[in-house]
Amino acid sequence: MDVTKTKKVYVETYGCQMNVADTEVVLSVVNAVGYLPTNEAAEADLILVNTCSVRDNAEQRAQKRVSELKEHKRRNPDVVIGVLGCMAERLRTVLVEKNNLVDIVVGPDEYRRLPKLIEDAKAGERGIAVKLSRVENYDDITPLRTEGISAWLSVMRGCDKFCTFCVVPFTRGRERSRSLKSVVDEVALLSRQGFKEVTLLGQNVNSYNDGGADFADLLRAVAETDSAMRIRFTTSHPQDMSDKLIETIAAHRNICKYIHLPVQSGSNRILKLMNRTYTIEQYLGLMDRIKRAIPEASFSTDIIAGFPTESPEDHRMTMEIIKEVRYDGAYMFKYSPRENTKAFEMGADVAEELKTERLNEIIELQNGIAFDINQQLIGTDVEVLVERDSSRSTEDLLGRTDTNKKTVFPRGNAAVGELRRVRIDRANAQTLFGTLLPGTN
Ligand code: 5AD
Ligand code: SF4
Repeated sequence: MDVTKTKKVYVETYGCQMNVADTEVVLSVVNAVGYLPTNEAAEADLILVNTCSVRDNAEQRAQKRVSELKEHKRRNPDVVIGVLGCMAERLRTVLVEKNNLVDIVVGPDEYRRLPKLIEDAKAGERGIAVKLSRVENYDDITPLRTEGISAWLSVMRGCDKFCTFCVVPFTRGRERSRSLKSVVDEVALLSRQGFKEVTLLGQNVNSYNDGGADFADLLRAVAETDSAMRIRFTTSHPQDMSDKLIETIAAHRNICKYIHLPVQSGSNRILKLMNRTYTIEQYLGLMDRIKRAIPEASFSTDIIAGFPTESPEDHRMTMEIIKEVRYDGAYMFKYSPRENTKAFEMGADVAEELKTERLNEIIELQNGIAFDINQQLIGTDVEVLVERDSSRSTEDLLGRTDTNKKTVFPRGNAAVGELRRVRIDRANAQTLFGTLLPGTN
């Protein structure tokens, strides 16, 4: 084959892990018509930006990148440029019709149409495909993954929860699950390919349902497919965190004892306005049940500062819940009004400076707690899955504990993909630092 004739695709991905997983589906779809992935936009025939709409700043960033990447098309008019993902439906008019920025705009449920849309674009047509589907789950498409030890695997798509701040139910549509069998088959394939860890993904992963098989059933089936493979999952909604699921996590050694359970706010009044469907008392009760069943579990959460009508007292209650639970980690955001959502109608009455002030307070509190929790690990031995070279020094490797803590240590005789024991010498709020202990596991 004449390599110079090979077509190349360059994709930039924004937003959540679901988008990262979707990009791998997209790469598989376009690979079937001859496109090989490249990391260099300058040498690509096809340039795609997989976008996120969840907060305004993510949208702004993606839009800016699309304008910058357009440069490549100015130099070479044969290049096809496209926008994928959550921004597609919202911004299709702006992107294609008004600003003539891109050739194709493709929403999250229409990736199978990419080959046709690309061909049409080469013939000078501009294509928009942004319909949402009630059934599309790409069950039969094996994502094109870059080699590694850790794989993303999306098991359900969409969301039916309609939290009032969130645009996801509008951009990604209704909830639908892949078949249990296809997920298990894919995990078996990943195991044969040498992957050591798989993260099951869904916007609302624990509301997975395949004809009566729930997420606990899926998790058990996956964990038993290869008992040496680490299994993670994200994101869980408190409402769907059943006792059966908690027992399943506790019962399997290879299901990681790390649970991301977004609380969003510490105030019942705000939780109600957010349509989160639980009270703080119920959330804390759930936390207690998990901690009793899985004492070694680590927890992370999502918090929003400055939701409409949030008072100083509501904010104080959010600070209280953080102190009460003592999360190992948190993703903390300023409320960002999104069109179409119910909260958008409530207005954005918390001033920007106040949102920033509250967010900073939350971050400072959370960092202090994470720091203290990690200090407790100094002098203990942890088991890590070695993932890659550390970004700070090629002398060091980076691994992750079962509880999802990044751990950096001098490489010694360790290799990527191994499970190794490390003695922790020091720690900050984000990372543990230690010494490799002898032997492999
Ligand atoms: N503003 C701020 N944060 C948001 N999230 C979702 N929508 C918004 C919004 N409009 C956060 C929530 C969610 C996480 C994925 O993103 O905390 O759990
Ligand atoms: Fe958005 Fe709520 Fe669904 Fe999560 S559960 S994707 S925050 S609507």
